[in-house]
Amino acid sequence: MKQSTLLMPADLHAYMLAHSAPVDPIQQRIAERTEQFADVAHWRTAPEQSAFLTLLVRLAGARDAIEVGTFTGMSALAIARGLGEGGSLICCDISDQWTPIASEAWRAAGVEDRIDLRIAPALATLRALPSGPSFDFAFVDAEKTGYRDYYEELLGRLRPGGLLVFDNVFRSGRVLDPTNEVDHAVIDFNAALAKDDRVDVVMVPMADGMSLVRKR
Ligand SMILES: C[S@@+](CC[C@H](N)C(=O)[O-])C[C@H]1O[C@@H](n2cnc3c(N)ncnc32)[C@H](O)[C@@H]1O
Repeated sequence: MKQSTLLMPADLHAYMLAHSAPVDPIQQRIAERTEQFADVAHWRTAPEQSAFLTLLVRLAGARDAIEVGTFTGMSALAIARGLGEGGSLICCDISDQWTPIASEAWRAAGVEDRIDLRIAPALATLRALPSGPSFDFAFVDAEKTGYRDYYEELLGRLRPGGLLVFDNVFRSGRVLDPTNEVDHAVIDFNAALAKDDRVDVVMVPMADGMSLVRKR
């Protein structure tokens, strides 16, 4: 009961990766190219999360997806690979500093034509979308103080039975011992989700914690 992903020993983590979908050369290249941005390289989605996202998108039978927080494109690649025939993914990011790495990888993976990258504050991009339910899957991994707003904008646009996934819901464990306002924002967000009867929520102890949120 005490073991958590945050505390997973390195050898067990390596074992887990070795027995899940392997990291392919395109993911490897994203990881290597992301290293040039030393201060923020840790932002990219972990290999186990990539495998998990692809599986979730497939399980959801998703065709229309959206991502908030794209960076160098690792999670978007995973989502795009899971989409069904004719699938599409809208990617939202505020910066075009990192997304050229993403675009190159998506091209190499043959998923470029299903991805629509929109560089603008994500809230503006979301609010400009039709208000009715038109998405099956959403992944949120941008600034954590925006999670409440992203949630409300996305929930209304999600089809019943659709899935929202929020990353970093553990804040490296600081949800138990907050040290800054971002930690408090995530604590408030997690608490609101847990009592929201519009959705089913499961918090998964993978990487820095992911909340899976199914719209009823
Ligand atoms: C943790 S990184 C995303 C990592 C990405 N999911 C991956 O797999 O590598 C967060 C991203 O959110 C973007 N971001 C931050 N604030 C934003 C905003 N208001 N609107 C859109 N994107 C934003 C940042 O530019 C950054 O690329």
